[in-house]
Amino acid sequence: MTITTEEQLEQLKAIGRICAKTRDAMAAAMRPGMTTLELDEIGARLLAEHGAQSAPMVTYDFPGATCISVNEEIAHGIPGERVLAEGDLVNIDVSAAKDGVFADCGSSFVLGEGDARVVKLCRDGKKAMWAGINVVKAGAPLADIGDAIGKFAKRGGYTLIRNLASHGVGDSLHDEPGEIATWPDRSERRKMTDGLVFTIEPFLSLGGRMADQKSPDDEWTLTSRPLAPCVQYEHTVVATPRGAIVITLPG
Ligand code: CO
Ligand code: CO
Repeated sequence: MTITTEEQLEQLKAIGRICAKTRDAMAAAMRPGMTTLELDEIGARLLAEHGAQSAPMVTYDFPGATCISVNEEIAHGIPGERVLAEGDLVNIDVSAAKDGVFADCGSSFVLGEGDARVVKLCRDGKKAMWAGINVVKAGAPLADIGDAIGKFAKRGGYTLIRNLASHGVGDSLHDEPGEIATWPDRSERRKMTDGLVFTIEPFLSLGGRMADQKSPDDEWTLTSRPLAPCVQYEHTVVATPRGAIVITLPG
């Protein structure tokens, strides 16, 4: 989607706020002993209360309102009977639509007390996302985003998952432009045009380089190759001549 009117921007901000609030309320409700299905039900209820529809559900028939990925799972985890435990690394990704406008956000959290390296990975994962957001500017090359995130990851001794890209969003969950790399990509020639709406969602890891299907009978859940802790932080942004407008803020 490309934003051309104030009204479009307000609509996008409204659904962005709903997505962020839902994710944060789910994170605040996480407790050891809870199943991921129970956590998803909290998200489903909040989206419904705000008059929003789960984007993966309406777009792909995803079997859940939100994606909840635990430990070895890095993305697109299906809510179910898995029981959360103290120290788990949990990614909550919420994307939703209201009045035909879509937004998408995600964050990783350590439940309670966790491994110090994983806690630091979370802190740095968020910084990696901001390294990308900070170079957003209408007219700039899209490749600037992957370059900035790649530099950040390299400096910290981290790896990036290189087959899970960011994407345009707005008129649909996965909109044009498709496949925006959050790693250095020399073949990227496109530019961030004024008003362009897209996500920035690097997957920062302690060794993972690719995402793979977890099991042959689950077409959704992804794990990393090699298996390693991995975090994802995602905002929906709009490119303007003055930089990024971050859409998925809770307040
Ligand atoms: Co996304
Ligand atoms: Co997402």
